[in-house]
Amino acid sequence: MSNSLVDVYGREVNYLRLSVTENCNLSCFYCRSSPETCGAETVKEELLQVEEIYAVVKAAVELGMSRVRLTGGEPLLRPDILDIVRWLTSLKEITDLSLTTNGMLLDKLAFKLADAGLTRVNISLDSLEEANFKKITNGGKLSSTLSGIQKSLEAGLTPVKINMVLLKGINEHEIASFIKLTQNQELDVRFIEYMPVSEQDSWGDLFLPLDRVVEEAAKIAPLISVEGDHGGGPARYYRLQNAVGKIGLISPLSRHFCDRCNRLRVTSDGRLKPCLFSEEEVDLRPYLDDTEKLKKKFVEALIIKPDPEGVSCDSYNRMKQFKGKRTMTQIGG
Ligand code: GTP
Ligand code: 5AD
Repeated sequence: MSNSLVDVYGREVNYLRLSVTENCNLSCFYCRSSPETCGAETVKEELLQVEEIYAVVKAAVELGMSRVRLTGGEPLLRPDILDIVRWLTSLKEITDLSLTTNGMLLDKLAFKLADAGLTRVNISLDSLEEANFKKITNGGKLSSTLSGIQKSLEAGLTPVKINMVLLKGINEHEIASFIKLTQNQELDVRFIEYMPVSEQDSWGDLFLPLDRVVEEAAKIAPLISVEGDHGGGPARYYRLQNAVGKIGLISPLSRHFCDRCNRLRVTSDGRLKPCLFSEEEVDLRPYLDDTEKLKKKFVEALIIKPDPEGVSCDSYNRMKQFKGKRTMTQIGG
């Protein structure tokens, strides 16, 4: 079998996102799709165990994948998260082992994660105002995430990237405050367009295209485009003149990046997803003890990655193409 995953549209897939749990210690109102799924957990026996995660990633690495991101739910809720990181660190072909977290537990875990071999973290933070943060997260404490960010910088889990999902009428008044975070700190602040989750009734009420961010930035200082790889993700990067950190824009709806999609996803219960927006899945669970069979399943998922030509460039039509039946926490964002 070839040792690189290139699909028929010429996209090289070298980035695996792996959800290790769908549980979360916050309950952001836009992330959980409905009250019924809020608090829902993967059946325990279905969650991939450390050895199984290792087996899946080993197969991916043998196919040429070199970037791995652990996601959730909240990945730091896994009691064995340090073991997972240690096991994966032993795969020397991985050049970038990262994790997306809400940061609540980073204060106590950042140094341990760095010691275990984690390269860097992306931290979700949707508000810099205590009351608003509490409202969005359904009771979360802003100070916990802020100290998690600080500890990650100290532990060298860099570049530390902040993820701010832009929500109409909820945090749009905070755009300038987020932009200003980059002026004196080594932080990359990324603004993300709100994507539909499985029940998408309220999508139109919350969606705002990221043009708003560019307008706000221009009021503060000139915005300069920053070329480069930046970790292989979908963000486009800019810097305010004289700023230390960068501003990233992730616009899956108003300006999609499917033509350069380089990733496959594994759900916390061991299913490969070819695309965040598709409902198709390839079950890995029956093959966890056989690397060659796992590799075949990766190729199967590669083959059904959607054609980027078919992806609408209009936000509203793109939203309608969303076919997922799972919540963001199950897929891992
Ligand atoms: P790096 O660029 O490697 O730092 O990571 P990332 O931005 O890809 O990962 P992160 O988990 O921080 O995701 C940031 C946002 O991008 C989240 O809202 C994700 O859901 C979104 N995102 C990541 N990959 C994709 C993708 O392939 N398609 C879409 N539509 N959204 C994505
Ligand atoms: N649209 C865009 N981003 C989302 N995230 C969670 N749900 C959505 C959504 N509906 C973000 C989280 C986290 C990242 C993994 O995905 O805030 O930063």
